Amino acid sequence: MPKLYPLLAYSIIIFMSVSCDFSKSPAVTIEDKVDSLLFLMTIEEKIGQTNLLSGNSEMTGPSPTGNSKQLIEKIKKGKVGGLLNLVGATATRKAQEMAVENSRLGIPLIFGYDILHGYQTMFPIPLAQAATWDADAAKLSSQVAATEAAAAGLHWTFAPMVDVSRDARWGRIMESPGEDPYLGAVMAKAWINGFQGEDLAAKNTLAATAKHFAAYGLAEAGREYNTVDISMQALHNNVLPPFKAANDAGVASFMNAFNEINGIPSTGNTYLQRELLKGTWNFQGFVVSDWASVAEMVTHGYAEDLSQAAEQAINAGSDMDMMGFAYNRFLREKIASGEVQEATLDDAVRRILRIKFMLGLFEDPYGYSNVEREKRTLMTAENLQKSREVAQKSIVLLKNEENLLPLSKGVQSVAVIGSLANSKDVPLGSWRAQAISNSAVSILEGIKSTVSAETTVRYAPGYRLTEGERSFVKELSIVEDDRSGFSEALAIAKQSELVIMVVGEDCWQTGEGRSQANISLHGHQNALIESLSEVHENIVAISMTGRPVPLLTVSDHSKALVQVWFGGSTAGLAIADVLFGDASPTGKLPVSFPYHGGQEPLYYSRKNTGRPSNNAKNVFWSHYTDVPNEAMFPFGHGLTYTRFIYSDLQLDVTSEGIQLSFQLSNVGQADGIETAQIYIRDVTASITRPILELKGFKRVSLKQGESQEVTYHLSKSDLSFYNELGQLTFEPGVFEVLVGTSSAETISDRITF
Ligand code: NOJ
Repeated sequence: MPKLYPLLAYSIIIFMSVSCDFSKSPAVTIEDKVDSLLFLMTIEEKIGQTNLLSGNSEMTGPSPTGNSKQLIEKIKKGKVGGLLNLVGATATRKAQEMAVENSRLGIPLIFGYDILHGYQTMFPIPLAQAATWDADAAKLSSQVAATEAAAAGLHWTFAPMVDVSRDARWGRIMESPGEDPYLGAVMAKAWINGFQGEDLAAKNTLAATAKHFAAYGLAEAGREYNTVDISMQALHNNVLPPFKAANDAGVASFMNAFNEINGIPSTGNTYLQRELLKGTWNFQGFVVSDWASVAEMVTHGYAEDLSQAAEQAINAGSDMDMMGFAYNRFLREKIASGEVQEATLDDAVRRILRIKFMLGLFEDPYGYSNVEREKRTLMTAENLQKSREVAQKSIVLLKNEENLLPLSKGVQSVAVIGSLANSKDVPLGSWRAQAISNSAVSILEGIKSTVSAETTVRYAPGYRLTEGERSFVKELSIVEDDRSGFSEALAIAKQSELVIMVVGEDCWQTGEGRSQANISLHGHQNALIESLSEVHENIVAISMTGRPVPLLTVSDHSKALVQVWFGGSTAGLAIADVLFGDASPTGKLPVSFPYHGGQEPLYYSRKNTGRPSNNAKNVFWSHYTDVPNEAMFPFGHGLTYTRFIYSDLQLDVTSEGIQLSFQLSNVGQADGIETAQIYIRDVTASITRPILELKGFKRVSLKQGESQEVTYHLSKSDLSFYNELGQLTFEPGVFEVLVGTSSAETISDRITF
């Protein structure tokens, strides 16, 4: 029912409709425009803005949108604020026309999509990007993704995921920046800067989303969507720093999370969303729920029914309801009953409209949906080259006995073994947006295109992983009890000068809903490499996974071991670049690699405990009796084709913190780049602190034989921690400062503040 407006309101509508200058006039601020528009809106139209629906049949959760006829009607009536999963310049333009040309106020829709590591040109998965420890590389990846997606009609990405992830069983660890809050914060900022650029209204940038707020990555036992129970100080020290960095970088939106925290679902969490994010942090963008997470508050046992869930979620600060169908059904009556204030709804809508104005949607609602630009922007040679550069940087050299790597391109013959080596699809990873299936350069192709024309390259699949069940609904069945490929693999190994064996996971073993209790290599991969090592002594092992997996057997039976993750569209080329020395490996692990899955959750920044001794002769100390406490390959580890030495660590107290310097020397046989890492330990504090905390790093490029003094300043805030009230506290005392090539290989000194 159209409502009768006062004269003023009508004159503003008329002014808006006849004067396109309204939205362009610099004298009128975005806040003015938002206020004017809000003034014109009915409660139904306001509620419409908070309603985010899926725009196609692609399911990313259990609840269908309904048929498209109904959806179109809703859009025309102004009952939808945005769509997700609708992509392409043509489709988005059509949907936008329905909103802009048909709804009463013509408010444009916002189109969102999960663009985690590329739109069509795939970059390495986010965990791999974190392995670059290179903010420019991460930024480049999201810049390219934004350019492609914004040409395909999209305005908004549900990325970056900045959940600190310390449990390799959790399938979404692949989407994360890894286990460390500091590295996570660096990556969060870089990704957001890349997506959003300088100007949200530019037609090659996207509004970004920091997700999932909060602690989703710490689900108990690594089981997807599971409970999180976490102390206030751990939440602030370990989980929130990347979110804080995202807010400081001006991220447009936050997404809350499926998990509960300490008994309260994130979606209904007033402390996180209202007090901290919108209060203390003064966040000006909007909070979107996760898919149906408003409705799931009923299942959690927190809301009695959908109507109460709507009330709890919006009151707690969740502004937009993604596929929960709670706000559009119940907010009207909740406002009538006074359980939700209209001012609360206004605040939610104001935040959503603010971002729509900043995106330039009112000025040019069709600006992003440009068929021509879409055609010439996707998967260009330039974008693929950028992806290759980032992929090179994400590769981590885990071991290199006898300097087996880099290999000579003139090698007479190579046996490439492992079905993953021949996959053009697995390197694309999961959360692959609009990647074209089987469009990646496989490892086998990469090797073939790099070695000399005289080199014989032989291939045998060796083991078999099933293709993976690529449906969202069916169970994945990977384990294959099939050794029929062993004899062929052994035969080509015997004929060849060198063996390159690729081990790993299918890309669909990681991602949403892909938690695994057993993270060991599936199938007979370990058995195969054991057999190969009996017939060949020069084995290079390549591990292609989306999570840290136990690699003990692989490492014991190979001379060189390289972690390549899921490297994106040009993975095979980037891997060959590193194997054959066209690029030197510079990646460092953003997660600890375990000896055994039973060590998970495993992270370097652990507490000391009262019984840390590893020299104890009795059994009563904090340890496992069957596997080590330590990581097999620790956080921060990564070799290159030269060697670096750290020396002369100097520490000085300043009024602002600790000034440190050390000498870094390249003592190996090649030029190289080292990511020098700076850790601290607050030795005694009112709340026990971890034995190590990363506080900074520097990428240093040194020629063979060269040395450099590296300096760094640790501020008081770097030396502080959050207490149980969530307050940042500085406690003077003894600090240990450690610098080194990984969290396990450092030089250190102590200083009293
Ligand atoms: C659920 C996921 O948790 C979230 O990350 C994603 O953005 C939405 N589905 C939409 O696809």
